[in-house]
Amino acid sequence: MEETTRPHAGRTARRVPSAELLDGLERATALDRPIAVISKKVRRRLGPGKLRDVLHGVPMGHPLHPALAMTTFGCWLSASVVDMTRTGSRAARTLILVGLGSAVPTVAAGLTDWSTLHREQQRVGLVHAMTNAVAALCYSGSVFLRVTGRERAGRMLGYAGLAAASAGANLGGHMSYRQAAGANHAESVGHLMPLGWHDLCALKDLPNGRPVRRRLGYIDLFVLRLGDDVSVLADNCSHLAGPLHQGRVAMEEGQACIVCPWHGSAFRISDGRVMHGPATSRQPAFQTRLRQDGVIQVRPAE
Ligand code: FES
Repeated sequence: MEETTRPHAGRTARRVPSAELLDGLERATALDRPIAVISKKVRRRLGPGKLRDVLHGVPMGHPLHPALAMTTFGCWLSASVVDMTRTGSRAARTLILVGLGSAVPTVAAGLTDWSTLHREQQRVGLVHAMTNAVAALCYSGSVFLRVTGRERAGRMLGYAGLAAASAGANLGGHMSYRQAAGANHAESVGHLMPLGWHDLCALKDLPNGRPVRRRLGYIDLFVLRLGDDVSVLADNCSHLAGPLHQGRVAMEEGQACIVCPWHGSAFRISDGRVMHGPATSRQPAFQTRLRQDGVIQVRPAE
């Protein structure tokens, strides 16, 4: 009989050390006490309102923190390049100072997002913040050394700051791409429903004025009936996939909204527009129509 070989049979999967380290960090329960204290303080300090929405990035439609972080990191990286090539000590100093200045709104936006994340994301986020704080301290010291005439020591401390900022950026990447913090958790919905109208359920089977969840194929839908009007959104919140049908209906700026039960994002029921963060992505909405036999049909809104 011919022997077949299975390339992976009997081999132990090799773990990448840094990935293992990050897995361990996600499970580091020792960080939970400071996380609980800090995130509660941040949430209390930044109650619901325009400022919090801006810091989350609601007007932009995506989180603000990564865009600001690019400015800070970019300035510090550029300063190191200038230092390495010895092309201008004044330019390096200016870049470091611009980076330090931009770190203020970067931290504010990052803390705001971090305060409404899952605990595993917050553990990585806390260490991300600490490494970046070390970077900021190094760069502050670097500027001080430079202006007091110790240029070489200032350059060295700048390189140490870049190393810390790079570690922080790596952790930020882990949070964004592995833990999906800041990602749109409802994006796939539009790709899971075939085009055209689909039967959802009979109008008479929907309670009046109370949101419910209905399943259509692979998708969970938030359904709210008000008389003969039926509004349908994707049920999993775009922020971190919370169940919208368990939220409360509220009026925001005269518009009926559903408020997510997990972190309080508010979405306009008519079209899924974000009225308040932390969500920054619109909730997928569906058009509805009532067939003559009383069956509600839905299709993705254009
Ligand atoms: S899951 Fe966070 S606001 Fe909905």
